[in-house]
Amino acid sequence: MANEIKTIGVLTSGGDAPGMNAAIRSVVRKAIANGVAVKGIKKGYQGLLNEEIVDMDRHSVSDIIQRGGTILGTARCSEFRTEEGQEKGAEICRKHGIDGLVVIGGDGSYRGAQELARHGINTVGIPGTIDLDIACTDYTIGFDTAINTAMSAIDKVRDTSSSHERCSIIEVMGRNAGYIALWCGVANGAEDILLPEKYDYNEQNIINNIINNRKRGKTHHIIINAEGIGHSTSMARRIEAATGIETRATILGYMQRGGNPTCKDRFYASVMGAYAADILCQGKSNRVVGYRNGEFTDFDIEEALAMKKDISEYQYEVSRVLAQ
Ligand code: ADP
Ligand code: F6P
Repeated sequence: MANEIKTIGVLTSGGDAPGMNAAIRSVVRKAIANGVAVKGIKKGYQGLLNEEIVDMDRHSVSDIIQRGGTILGTARCSEFRTEEGQEKGAEICRKHGIDGLVVIGGDGSYRGAQELARHGINTVGIPGTIDLDIACTDYTIGFDTAINTAMSAIDKVRDTSSSHERCSIIEVMGRNAGYIALWCGVANGAEDILLPEKYDYNEQNIINNIINNRKRGKTHHIIINAEGIGHSTSMARRIEAATGIETRATILGYMQRGGNPTCKDRFYASVMGAYAADILCQGKSNRVVGYRNGEFTDFDIEEALAMKKDISEYQYEVSRVLAQ
């Protein structure tokens, strides 16, 4: 093996995402199959700095592929943003014989991985976030489960909303990105879909839309609002006052991040975990795994972080036409 990798570590960082366990399982089992030992680092970079490090074998990852969350735990760690924190993290890796580290998380976690690589620890990132907001990849672990969870919840809200002839504003997660809102907006047949990337903050348009739809005989009006826009409760009050139609806000919140991963999340996370273990065992460093144009691939972290991603114009146009 080119770089004499004997032991790798794996951690999950930032918001958890369904499918992270499938990725951990795959990293562990593929590395072991490659003849490399694996250590699990608990609670992200915080656990690294606290030396919460455990040996892992094939059995440590039994019976986890179907579970949501992450068996390693996760955290946000401000100390790791500092030079001292990063040096300490690299030193702890060396002390535990960790030659390389798989970091499962989002853009922020990649920055941490990049810093560790700068301090001499080989790192590979895997995209783990329900938000789908990582530019180098068309797929992120957890998005598929989150949209299916949200879609089912929105169907339920729609039942009661229609029965009462109400307007419903349903807020979905996504941080500053509108991917969950776009997918659910289309999949749930919403009348308005508000995306942070596109919304013009002209509430009068929404009000006109509700009034026109009511005149045409529609008994419900579903507005999918993205977390990046927020303020669903006050928006509901204003819309009710302007239209005279009872309007309720539902913020789906953390339920979108939990639950058993879908088949797609289990499968893609498994392939990405194995891919990360393979390239790390080959001695590659400062890379992130992605899925683009139907292929699993990897990028330099710096290049990946410099990439930009936006909502597809065509998909957005389709969502608007279908909502009318
Ligand atoms: P995500 O990985 O989901 O984007 P965060 O942005 O919260 O989530 O990042 C997760 C963790 O990664 C942070 O709590 C911090 O420990 C680490 N991190 C984020 N940005 C940096 C940075 N610029 N340098 C070093 N570590 C960072
Ligand atoms: O990145 C995943 C995510 O669930 C976002 O959609 C949301 O904005 C954020 O994490 C919430 O983070 P926290 O768990 O720190 O409240």
